[in-house]
Amino acid sequence: MATPKGYVDSEYLQVVGDFLNQLKQRTYARMQIQTGHKVLDVGCGPGIDTMALSQAVGATGEVYGVDYDKTMITEAEQRAQKAGISAWVKHKLSDAASLPFETGFFDSCRSERLFQHLPNPMTVLDEMARVTKENGWVVVLDTDWGSGGIDTSEIDIERRLTRFMADHMCDNGYAGRQLYRLFKKQGLVNVSFEVLPLVVTNYTFARKVWSLDKLEMQAVVMNVVTEAEVKKIQMEFEQADANGVFFGYGCLTLVAGQKAG
Ligand SMILES: C[S@@+](CC[C@H](N)C(=O)[O-])C[C@H]1O[C@@H](n2cnc3c(N)ncnc32)[C@H](O)[C@@H]1O
Repeated sequence: MATPKGYVDSEYLQVVGDFLNQLKQRTYARMQIQTGHKVLDVGCGPGIDTMALSQAVGATGEVYGVDYDKTMITEAEQRAQKAGISAWVKHKLSDAASLPFETGFFDSCRSERLFQHLPNPMTVLDEMARVTKENGWVVVLDTDWGSGGIDTSEIDIERRLTRFMADHMCDNGYAGRQLYRLFKKQGLVNVSFEVLPLVVTNYTFARKVWSLDKLEMQAVVMNVVTEAEVKKIQMEFEQADANGVFFGYGCLTLVAGQKAG
């Protein structure tokens, strides 16, 4: 498989996943999981969430993770084996647009930071709803790359970079703001939403979480900013960091809805 736009490796997902742990916990709570439930994580990556969900359903339940990246599925399977939970935690190689499960198989279903990569988000949400039982919960947490910003006096450069990030660094950079509409269109009921900030005050971590090296390089290649402008804004960020006042943020949207009974 060719490396998709916005690809990140499992080391990145673990570091960012640890940082987002409270948000992850909120998605599990929205799934209303009970012991013995069958639950699904779509776009599961290396299995960070399937490991956590295994505790919620217990050994009488079933957890499935699905991802279209073979490396991620292999790592997730290895983690489950190492943790001794592979009897009830399984990972399958599959495109989210065509889930390999029967209709109504799961008590609840989630995805996290998957929709930002999807050219066909409605198809995937339809699939998530299809495989969920009547009255079961579908929960999606996703990024809105257009929502964020970093404190700087170089507003024009920062705005061009933020716009470029949302428009070009992944296939669906405005996923977060679309979810409420998609859930309503799908026919899910009792739809709730939360907008959750991700605030970063450590410049080194900001460069990692927002892939700033790659962003700046590609923005220069596409003539969105010049190298001199990148240097100028980097110097401001470094100065802010040295003064202990670096501040950046972005928003994620958490939407939950129930399959109509
Ligand atoms: C940003 S990662 C998030 C992984 C995981 N949900 C987490 O929170 O750690 C996005 C994941 O979605 C997967 N993905 C992207 N498009 C997909 C698709 N169409 N079908 C299945 N998986 C997909 C990627 O391979 C990647 O593992």
